[in-house]
Amino acid sequence: MEMPKIGLGTYLLKGRSGIEVIKSALEMGYRHIDTAQMYGNEKEVGEGVRESNVKREDVFITTKICTPNTSYQKTYDAVLISLKNLGVDYIDLVLIHEPYSAYLEMYRALEDLVKEKKVRYIGVSNFNKNEITNLLNHCKIPPYVNQIEMHIFYQQESYLKFLQERNIKVVAWSPLCADASLIINNDAIKKIAKKHKKNEIQVALRFLLQNGVYIIPKSKDKNRLKENIDLFDFSLDNEDTQEIKSLDLNKSKFGWYY
Ligand SMILES: NC(=O)c1ccc[n+]([C@@H]2O[C@H](COP(=O)([O-])OP(=O)(O)OC[C@H]3O[C@@H](n4cnc5c(N)ncnc54)[C@H](OP(=O)(O)O)[C@@H]3O)[C@@H](O)[C@H]2O)c1
Repeated sequence: MEMPKIGLGTYLLKGRSGIEVIKSALEMGYRHIDTAQMYGNEKEVGEGVRESNVKREDVFITTKICTPNTSYQKTYDAVLISLKNLGVDYIDLVLIHEPYSAYLEMYRALEDLVKEKKVRYIGVSNFNKNEITNLLNHCKIPPYVNQIEMHIFYQQESYLKFLQERNIKVVAWSPLCADASLIINNDAIKKIAKKHKKNEIQVALRFLLQNGVYIIPKSKDKNRLKENIDLFDFSLDNEDTQEIKSLDLNKSKFGWYY
């Protein structure tokens, strides 16, 4: 199974209500769930998958390994803990959450876990051009993904092209800027949404999809979850995309500079 274009972001989805959101998302068509050890909700993700009517092998699960597990052995052991938390016998995609100084050593542990069939794909998150280049020069298995901040106000056009040219898929984190009101209240986006009879959020997500970007919007609300996958009955034309391109502030909303 290849990574689906749209996934569910799960940051802040915890406890019983978190399980219910994950289960509902799967039952309405989501097939990719993005979690991380840092979010403390891998158990909820596993439970949501088991309680849904979707088979485990039809779901693509991503998790991420973070500090303090930043040596070969600690990364290896952390993935075994993720397998246990999720209650699965393989994980589809494991990422190094941030470019910790020992990332090459951490990545070697992930490569060994692929050989042992405990993990299917491996990649990184929040890596800049230099870090990706260095990784490509040292790895045996090229990273499948770099998960980075990307939304209509931080489009990272040249870095996106750089990664795509190297066959590294780009997953946009916080594709709604973690504050959907910024998109909903934007006049240019409002106008484009009206033209296509869609809402502003759908326009912002569609823009990323049309650029070949994978998206993982988070919502705890069933109606919003539905809206966020209802993106395939319209397409943005050249005039729309030029207008959206002009909204790029070329600056991380969260202060993560690449
Ligand atoms: N790799 C990394 O370092 C990293 C960093 C940040 C995030 N992530 C991942 O990326 C995922 C997404 O990012 P995020 O959670 O920060 O933010 P996001 O997906 O950009 O935005 C989530 C916010 O938008 C609202 N929302 C969602 N759909 C909406 C809709 N259709 N209409 C109106 N409001 C809507 C949500 O509210 P409701 O829940 O109330 O609907 C929530 O407040 C995370 O959950 C996580 O999995 C990764």
